[in-house]
Amino acid sequence: MSISRRQQLRLEKLARERQAKQEDPGSYVNQTPFRAVERYYKSRVPAPDYSKAIDPYEPNDQLMPVQLAHDLRDGCPFFGTAGQDTQKAYVLTTYPGLIVIPNPFSPAAQRHLIQQCLREYPKAPNVSNLHTHYHVPPAGLWPLFQDEANGTRPVDDPAYFVATKHADEDARDNVERKEQQNQQRTLAIPLKACDDAFNPGLTMVKADPAPSATVAAMNATQLLRRCRWVTLGYHYHWQTKTYHLDRAFPMPDLLSSVCASVVRSVQGVAGSNWRNTYDSSQYRAEAGVINYYQYRDTLMGHVDRSELNMDAPLVSISLGNACIFLIGGADRETEPSALYLRSGDIVVMTKPCRRSFHSVPRIIEDTLPEYLSASGTSDDAPDWRLFGEYMATTRININVRQVQPVHTRD
Ligand code: OGA
Ligand code: MN
Repeated sequence: MSISRRQQLRLEKLARERQAKQEDPGSYVNQTPFRAVERYYKSRVPAPDYSKAIDPYEPNDQLMPVQLAHDLRDGCPFFGTAGQDTQKAYVLTTYPGLIVIPNPFSPAAQRHLIQQCLREYPKAPNVSNLHTHYHVPPAGLWPLFQDEANGTRPVDDPAYFVATKHADEDARDNVERKEQQNQQRTLAIPLKACDDAFNPGLTMVKADPAPSATVAAMNATQLLRRCRWVTLGYHYHWQTKTYHLDRAFPMPDLLSSVCASVVRSVQGVAGSNWRNTYDSSQYRAEAGVINYYQYRDTLMGHVDRSELNMDAPLVSISLGNACIFLIGGADRETEPSALYLRSGDIVVMTKPCRRSFHSVPRIIEDTLPEYLSASGTSDDAPDWRLFGEYMATTRININVRQVQPVHTRD
């Protein structure tokens, strides 16, 4: 279909205006300083200048070196290799409470963590964003993905496509569906994890979300790229941003031990006007989110405020491709600091920063370390090739929190 010269000029003018608006952060009405920086790093054209971000591997006056209270290898043999300094960290001078531990893991430890995140943690009983809409098999998608990659799973296999849940819904009685919809409408009211006195709202009914009526059937290879998160420990009810305090699976021992070791090591770490005083003997890793990011995925500005315990450090481990991580203040009104995080880097959000806005506006392409690539060979992970292929365009974040306040334990 051809368009008139006038229409064409008009379209070109609109495109020019859109581009000008994109390039001028000031033109966004009500744009907060946090949002402006988020947009800057999210932008494709023009591409952001990553050298503006704080790099824990380059000297920077916004990073102050500190010694950890213990070598991370004490109590958790998972860390470090000979010659690696596993007692070095930095605190940010711009926002109090944030501690960065530059990669203390050996390549083998990172490979092991990634394999856990892809093959083990997505298994039942843990759930992912896909579980709402698909009948994810109890063993997770990895074995199917493996079969598909090896060509041992024929396309005419009746189970080639992972079944959608809306197919079951369609078969359901209309009345039952109406009832469920009514229940969901009442649940659209924003709820808090607890009342203002920090008493948990245990009586709240939290209905499971309804499966989408429009999701397409996909094979495991396609679905795996759409897995955005898996939760561990206490179940999370995303609709109300609260935990099911009456439903918890055990946390994987490995993560409990890694995080306990990190929390022990940051006890007493201080900046110029703050100190992390959390008693690490009170720490328990009780809930975790594994975030899976493909290149264009982002996690927009938020505060993790669902935990009844807002004092315990939050431990966040980066794996795979690098990212830009923004850390700001108690609201979006201050300009955040941007950190360049690589595979293995650990961020610990301790008390003053535990209530701060943060986000991941950018995954940085082609930054997978060589030791995680599909072509790498290692004795510890002879079947690494598929993991490497998946990781080529992926960043994984392991985000672990303590949920319960200290005083509820015996
Ligand atoms: C989160 C989070 C940060 C990251 O899961 O709440 O802030 O580095 N993740 O992916
Ligand atoms: Mn967060």
